[in-house]
Amino acid sequence: MTNIGIFDSGLGGVAVLNELAKRNKANYFYLGDNLRVPYGNRSKAEITKFATDIVDFLENYDIDYYIIACNTISVTCKDYLREKYAKKFITIAEMAVEAALGFEGDYLALATKATIDSHFYKNTIEGKKSCHVYESKAIDLVNLIEAGVLDGKTLNDSIDEYLSIANEKQIANIILACTHYPIIKDKIRERLSYKANIIDPAVYLAEKIRTDDMENVVNIFMTKESQETSDLINKIMEVDYKLSFIGGL
Ligand code: DGL
Repeated sequence: MTNIGIFDSGLGGVAVLNELAKRNKANYFYLGDNLRVPYGNRSKAEITKFATDIVDFLENYDIDYYIIACNTISVTCKDYLREKYAKKFITIAEMAVEAALGFEGDYLALATKATIDSHFYKNTIEGKKSCHVYESKAIDLVNLIEAGVLDGKTLNDSIDEYLSIANEKQIANIILACTHYPIIKDKIRERLSYKANIIDPAVYLAEKIRTDDMENVVNIFMTKESQETSDLINKIMEVDYKLSFIGGL
């Protein structure tokens, strides 16, 4: 069996896990740190410490390789984790750039504060092709999604603010550069005043992974018990899974 460790600050990576588990049978061990979410407004030192706590926990499961299903962790400390654990870490952020490069035109990277402040998307994509990468810090979207706010005026107003540059400039491609955002992909599409190409890196990543296993075993560990979390996981997952609340790391 292939043991795949996959993690995020909370629920966002569950959408990545779902795309993966639908296509590739394996032993999945997912950790979502919804007790300490959001990571996107935290310092580099804090994000690195939290990511290390997560990997230390997952190391108990004889993991063959990891998938960092969190852009914030990917851009903040992927090199540190690769060096510390001497294992393969596939990152959603590097996969997202690969996916984005397949399309023509300019881009809007919609992401957390930490991801935008790193300028990973802007620097990497503009370094590889002639285009402009606009950046939008969607400060409170993760909190709304974690709280189960998937509709309504508060969410619409936030999305409108973060997409204002896209609507103004009719930017061809919108990169969902935070794994929480595909959960509200339809809302994002609805708030755009033109037809943009919305890039969901989770689908691209899942199509790149290949496993030979005959059986799917999907374990989801969340650090904080909540009904909203259970309900959202249930809504996102299209394959069987076992959910455990571990009460912190
Ligand atoms: N889902 C995470 C990402 O892809 C971040 C959410 C957070 O701020 O914790 O960046």
